[in-house]
Amino acid sequence: MKKRKNIIKIAIDSPAAAGAGTLAKSISKHYNLLYLDTGKIYRFIAYLKLKFPKKFNQKYIKSKINSLKINDLSNKILLSDNIGTEASIISKIPSIRKTVHSFQLNYAYNPPKKFNGSCLDGRDITYNIVPDADFKFFITANIKTRANRRYKELKVFNKKITYEEVLKSIKNRDKNDLNRQISPLKKTKDSLLINTTNLNKRACFLKIKKIIDRKLKINGNL
Ligand code: C5P
Repeated sequence: MKKRKNIIKIAIDSPAAAGAGTLAKSISKHYNLLYLDTGKIYRFIAYLKLKFPKKFNQKYIKSKINSLKINDLSNKILLSDNIGTEASIISKIPSIRKTVHSFQLNYAYNPPKKFNGSCLDGRDITYNIVPDADFKFFITANIKTRANRRYKELKVFNKKITYEEVLKSIKNRDKNDLNRQISPLKKTKDSLLINTTNLNKRACFLKIKKIIDRKLKINGNL
């Protein structure tokens, strides 16, 4: 695989609804990095499974991922709670992880020239996808805060959803993601822990920016 030299690589892992996506987006914009929400790829595959169950096999998934464009991942349908739950089930399948792995590597190591680097967030980014990232973060928040944030997001699309349902589904996903054999969610020793429970979006952004700027300054990049 071709790898661009001298790019900034940021790797983020986090449990569901911890605020990692919002943070990763603002950081990517600030440093002009290509951003990839890797959960969306698993959600896209889960969507294919639910929509086309008869076609759903490894060959079909591979062809869909090979022709996947980043815009395909912005479809609002991927945000639904049942797709999130299905994503945490299909993401345990080794052949699916392998296909997604190759797709992610290209984004991480070979972003288009107009970007200064890449920023990926997911569950296994810091130790599996971009183990040599320049910056590694583990973003978390307490379960009630996460459920409440996701509840507010989902309520916009589905007026009937309740907080209790969202809490249950996040607990379920945490269980799946933390306990699975293959690529479980974990905090690596070299990742910085950021707890967003009592921080608003701006405060989170500034906290991470300070850490990044300090290192970039030391290395003469700023
Ligand atoms: O981040 P998001 O909640 O959209 O991810 C949906 C699901 O996809 C997660 O619960 C997890 O099971 C799976 N996932 C994963 N590895 C990643 C990103 C997401 O297994 N790198």
